[in-house]
Amino acid sequence: MKLWGGRFTKEENQLVHNFNESLSFDRRFYRQDIEGSIAHVTMLEKQGIVSEADRDAIIGGLRGILEDLESHKLEFTAEHEDIHSFVEANLTERIGEAGKRLHTGRSRNDQVALDMKLYCRDEIGELDGLVRALLEELLKLMEENLDTYMPGFTHLQKAQPVTLAHHLGAYFEMFYRDLGRLSDIKKRMNTCPLGAGALAGTTYPLDREYSAGLLGFDGPTFNSMDSVSDRDYVIELLSALSTVAMHLSRFSEEVIIWNSNEYRFVELDDAYSTGSSIMPQKKNPDIAELVRGKTGRVYGALVAILTTMKGLPLAYNKDMQEDKELTFDAIDTVKGCLALFTGMMSTMVFRKDVMEASAKKGFTNATDAADYLVNHGVAFRDAHGIVGQLVLYCLEKEIALDDMTLEEFRAVSPVFEEDIYEAISMKACVERRITQGAPGQEAMKQAIAACRRRLEQ
Ligand code: ARG
Repeated sequence: MKLWGGRFTKEENQLVHNFNESLSFDRRFYRQDIEGSIAHVTMLEKQGIVSEADRDAIIGGLRGILEDLESHKLEFTAEHEDIHSFVEANLTERIGEAGKRLHTGRSRNDQVALDMKLYCRDEIGELDGLVRALLEELLKLMEENLDTYMPGFTHLQKAQPVTLAHHLGAYFEMFYRDLGRLSDIKKRMNTCPLGAGALAGTTYPLDREYSAGLLGFDGPTFNSMDSVSDRDYVIELLSALSTVAMHLSRFSEEVIIWNSNEYRFVELDDAYSTGSSIMPQKKNPDIAELVRGKTGRVYGALVAILTTMKGLPLAYNKDMQEDKELTFDAIDTVKGCLALFTGMMSTMVFRKDVMEASAKKGFTNATDAADYLVNHGVAFRDAHGIVGQLVLYCLEKEIALDDMTLEEFRAVSPVFEEDIYEAISMKACVERRITQGAPGQEAMKQAIAACRRRLEQ
């Protein structure tokens, strides 16, 4: 069934239909399409463009379609070009003449722009919830691991000791910024394209403010040509999703490293690991790997839509139909990754003893040994050189700085006293770092309280 048969004399070729149709994927926003139509016809009646009786028949018919779709009494059938055609044809089948009045003062161009916005807005709400759930899980783990010492790395080389709470706190910040990006997009996109028509508005006395209000928008869009050809919000959303995916991917990479036989910092729950079909000993971090791997397709969606949009003259062009499948896929992918990652985190066991032992090896307290000398009057550059010599000595003897006798310390610099051991203990190295943002418990407790406040805002 075509909405535009009047002008055409030949039947559409089946291949052309298949190539052109979008019902197979835009059926996904049937709810938003119906919601938009109900608002549109409510406004049409208020403006005296359709009668009360027609409005009631249309709304009744649309609600019936919605119900029947939800209960699977009504199925999508392939002869319809898109969700808009499907709903309108079905409506007219149900209620007759009145159904043909729904599309007064509207084009599929403003209709699809509206549906896509409503859909993205709803999904941003869901994504927001999933990011929040992950942030809550991180905060819980941070509270439980204020004194779980572990090595902090630069260049994937042990650098200075931190705590697991501090390390996880870094991810809290990343995902918290993601939350901010999602809400920014929602604010900027929240204008209603309905009433823009095909591109140049309509001659009917529409009340665009009114229909925008009915649909929870801040107001109508400003320029009718922009209204039907703007997909910036899709690009912004895919960009924000790419960043979420990138953060999840980095985190996954760390989980994979931590779970490796060499590190053994964590043990993944059986439910989030898989075995090998040939090697009986294996327990693989497949979920973390998949989350890392799926980042590629989210980036792909962003690049695809940017490329599709770059050559489009104003106003609507069918190219824009290409925004749907990739946006849907990216949203589904990131939602899945967020849910699974949170589940993986909440069931993962952190091996605190292994983490702490690892922090003790690898000279993560070398900076603190140098600071000790500085506090006793040695210039930092000289202190750096002295501790460098100590490290070399320890490497030869295969011991840690803490394992050296006081005589060995003093052989390199007489400044060292008995209190050097306390000064370079793991606990001291971490707990003395209490400037804002540092891993010391006092600083971390305040940081966690601040995280909670920011999350509740
Ligand atoms: N399926 C179309 C899309 O996704 C709907 C708009 C069609 N408009 C048109 N003039 N052909 O963009």
